[in-house]
Amino acid sequence: MTKPPLTLYLAAPRGFCAGVDRAIKIVEMALEKWGPPVYVRHEIVHNRFVVDGLRDKGAVFVEDLDECPLDRPVIFSAHGVPKSVPEEAARREMIYVDATCPLVSKVHLEAARHHENGKQIVMIGHRGHPETIGTMGQLPEGEVLLIETADEVADLTVRDPDQLAYITQTTLSIDDTAGVVRALEARFPNIEGPHKEDICYATTNRQGAVKALAPKVQAILVIGAPNSSNSRRLVEVGAAAGCDYSQLIQRAADIDWRALEGVSAVGLTAGASAPDVLVDEVVQAFRDRFDLTVEPVVTATEKIEFRLPRIVREPA
Ligand code: F3S
Repeated sequence: MTKPPLTLYLAAPRGFCAGVDRAIKIVEMALEKWGPPVYVRHEIVHNRFVVDGLRDKGAVFVEDLDECPLDRPVIFSAHGVPKSVPEEAARREMIYVDATCPLVSKVHLEAARHHENGKQIVMIGHRGHPETIGTMGQLPEGEVLLIETADEVADLTVRDPDQLAYITQTTLSIDDTAGVVRALEARFPNIEGPHKEDICYATTNRQGAVKALAPKVQAILVIGAPNSSNSRRLVEVGAAAGCDYSQLIQRAADIDWRALEGVSAVGLTAGASAPDVLVDEVVQAFRDRFDLTVEPVVTATEKIEFRLPRIVREPA
């Protein structure tokens, strides 16, 4: 039987960012250095495939420091943690490694600087996401007010409208965030923003690539986990760019082939925590069913690498 033709437009950049790459290496190096088990507070990155792979090597994933024995190392996830968490680990004299992405730490420092300058902070982010919890937890309660949408700006109650600054989660939609910032600046003309965008390079680049491929395709598939903020934003960016079928899949088995019947051009990308092996798996699944042409859509190249913490680089 002849296979129908289909072009798969492959977004680039896609998949692992430097922060995710570093966090995974930290767990692997900790396992080498101290041997299993090594405890990890929260999923090191939001991807089940990655987490399962590390679990097989001896990582134990927990949600709370209380679940970690005092005599085993604990690693904090790439999303960052409230200040109280490393403080508590130090108080318990535990060995801990902070795998917070340096670009999230940069936002933590920004928040601390605003606070030192007497400003109250508005954080644009998603309620309940570990990054938001970690960033808000850098400062005392009430010092960081959280909003998700432009509509929430009108309801903000602030201490002093002239002593305000805003920060953002690193994985938001660039376009939606611009709308929230406009609403903030309209209501609080003296609000201070970041010197340089808090939304990170990886989020920006992955969204840019989806926008570029959207006009070429009838469907977009984003490989990523349901709890991965940057992956979910990629689905939204695809839909906002005019693609009627923009879907999140965890791996090839999730593809709804019936929904793709009659489609001749599909866009494929992967969130910052989705490994390349899952992209290969999806490409192969398309190849099995279609006479496939793969066309990369390259909108940026990335060369960023982050240094690993000294504690995992040094011998035991
Ligand atoms: Fe860091 Fe951005 Fe990745 S904040 S973990 S480089 S998505």
